[in-house]
Amino acid sequence: MILILLGFYVACSFMLALFGIPSFFLMIFVAKFLFVYIGEVMSKDQRPPVAGPVFNQLVHFRKLFDYQASLAQKYITYRMILPSHSEIYTADPVNVEYILKTNFTNYGKGEYHCDIMKDLFGDGIFAVDGEKWRHQRKLASYEFSTKVLRDFSTSVFQDNAAKLVLKVSMVAAAKQMMDLQDMLMKSTLDSIFKVGFGVDLNSLSGSDVFGNQFIKAFDDSNVIIKRFLNLGLEAALKHNIKVIDSFIFELIRCKREQMKNKELDRGKEDILSRFLLESKKDPKKMNDQYLRDIILSFLIAGKDTSADTLTWFFYMLCKHPLVQEKVVLEVREATKAQINISADEFAKKITEKALDNMQYLHAALTETLRLYPAVPMDGKHSEEDDILPDGFKVKKGDGMCYMAYAMGRMRCIWGEDAGEFRPERWLENGVFQPESPFKFTAFQAGPRICLGKEFAYRQMKILAAVLVNFFKFKLVDERKEARYRTMFTLHMDQGLHLYAFPRL
Ligand code: HEM
Ligand SMILES: *[C@@H]1O[C@H](CO)[C@@H](O)[C@H](O)[C@H]1NC(C)=O
Ligand SMILES: *[C@@H]1O[C@H](CO)[C@@H](O)[C@H](O)[C@H]1NC(C)=O
Repeated sequence: MILILLGFYVACSFMLALFGIPSFFLMIFVAKFLFVYIGEVMSKDQRPPVAGPVFNQLVHFRKLFDYQASLAQKYITYRMILPSHSEIYTADPVNVEYILKTNFTNYGKGEYHCDIMKDLFGDGIFAVDGEKWRHQRKLASYEFSTKVLRDFSTSVFQDNAAKLVLKVSMVAAAKQMMDLQDMLMKSTLDSIFKVGFGVDLNSLSGSDVFGNQFIKAFDDSNVIIKRFLNLGLEAALKHNIKVIDSFIFELIRCKREQMKNKELDRGKEDILSRFLLESKKDPKKMNDQYLRDIILSFLIAGKDTSADTLTWFFYMLCKHPLVQEKVVLEVREATKAQINISADEFAKKITEKALDNMQYLHAALTETLRLYPAVPMDGKHSEEDDILPDGFKVKKGDGMCYMAYAMGRMRCIWGEDAGEFRPERWLENGVFQPESPFKFTAFQAGPRICLGKEFAYRQMKILAAVLVNFFKFKLVDERKEARYRTMFTLHMDQGLHLYAFPRL
C-alpha cells in the first residue's frame, strides 16, 4: 500500500513538473475514481456484480455490442462503475419485464443532460416522460391504427419499392456492383417523408435540390449526435437544426393555409395533416413547436431503423442462399403474379392478404432483428432506490440498460443454436409464432413498445418481396464478414456491396 502511495506521489510530482496544474487535477480525479471503484467492488451490498469501470466500454468501442454480449453470457446482469453512479446492464427477461412493464414508472428516460439532444428532439415522444408522453402516445397510436394512414402508407411503400427496382435494374444491367444499404436508406427516407409530410423528397433519384439539402442537414445532425462527446461540433449541429426547423415550420404554415382555404379536409392522409386537424381541438397545447417535435420524432424513428434491418436481412439472404430461394417461392405464391409483370404492377399485388400469406418472410425478418436489432441497446434511469426481481439492488440515479443485441445471442433464451440464423425457429406448421417481447426486445416492450412496429414490418415486407422477386443478390466478397458501426442504430460499416442478377 505504501509503495502504491509513494508511486502515486512520485507520479504526481512528475506530471506536475511536466504538464503543470491540469494534469495534477487529472491525477486527483483518477485517484478519487479508484477510491470509489474499490469501494464498490468490496461492498457487501447486494448489488449486481461489477464487470469493470465504464471506460472498459471505450476500450472495446469498435465491437461494443459483442463485448456486452460476452459479459452478459458470463453475468446476465452486471454493473459498470462511473465516478458518480453505476450503469446496470441486463439481458435477463425477468428484469426486462420488470423495468419495462411492472415498475415502468420508476424507469424513465431521465433528463437529457445535453442541450443538443433537447434542440433536436424537443418535446417529441422519444424525449419525454409522464403526462407529455401519455398525450402524444395516445394521439399517435390512434392515428397509426386508422385505415386512412394504413392504406396511404401501403401505397407509398409500393410506389417506392417499384422505384427501387428500376434503380437496381440499371446498375444490374451495367453489371456494376451497388451499395444496397445506401439505396435502402434513401428509399425508406423517401417513404417516411411522404407518409409524414405528404410531399415527395426524391432522395433516391437525387433530383430535388431542396430535398438534397434537407437530407444533408438531417444526416449530418445524426452523425454529429453520434459523436456527441466531441463538443467542438455543437455549432455545426445548431446550424443543421436551423435548416431542419425552418423547413418544417414552413411546411406547417403552408398546410395551415391550405386547410383554411379548403375548410376541413378529411381526405388528407399524411401524419402531419392528421395532427394539424387534431390541433384544432387544442390549439394552445398543440402549437407549431409541439407539432414540429412530434413529426421530427417520427422521422428519426422511422428513418434508419427499417433500412438498417433490411440491410442485415439482405446480407443474411446472401449468406444463406436457401433462405433466399424459400422467400422467393413464398412471395410468388402469395402474389400469384405472372413472371413478366412490371415492377409497378407487381408491387400493387402485395395486398394486405398477400402480406398475411408471407409468414416465412415475416419469420426471416424477425430472425434478422433477433441477431441484428436496429436499436442494439437502450437505457433508462432509476428514479428511486429499488430491488430487481433477481434480488439485486438498484440505487436512485443508476442507469438501467437492456441489451437487445446481447439478448438475441443468449443461449439461455434461444437454446444452443442461438448464434445461428434460422427463420424456422419462428414457425409452427408454417405459421409465425411471436415470442415474448421481454425476450425478443428489438422493438422494446411494455407501454412504450415501438409504435411503428406494424408499419415497419409492412414497409420491410413490401420492399423485400419486390426486390427478391426481380433479383438474385450475391455479395461482392463472399468471404468478408460484415461489421456494424457502433452507434445508436445498428448501421453496417462500409455499406453492403452486392451484385444483382435479374430473376426470370
Ligand atoms: C425495424 C424497425 C424498427 C425498430 C427495430 C424499432 C425499434 C424501436 C425501439 C427499440 C423503440 C424504443 C426506443 C426508446 O424508447 O428509446 C422504438 C420506439 C418508437 N418507435 Fe420504433 N422501431 C422501428 C421502426 C419504427 C417506425 C417505422 C416508426 C414510425 C414510423 C417507429 C416509431 C416509433 C415511435 C413513435 C417510438 C416511441 C414510442 C414511445 O416512446 O412511446 N418505429 N422503436
Ligand atoms: C406475359 O406473358 C404472357 C404469357 O406468356 C403473355 O400473354 C403476355 O402478353 C406477357 N405480357 C407482357 C407485358 O409481356
Ligand atoms: C417500484 O419502485 C419503487 C421505487 O421507486 C418501489 O418502492 C416499489 O416497490 C416498486 N414497485 C413494484 C411494483 O415493485
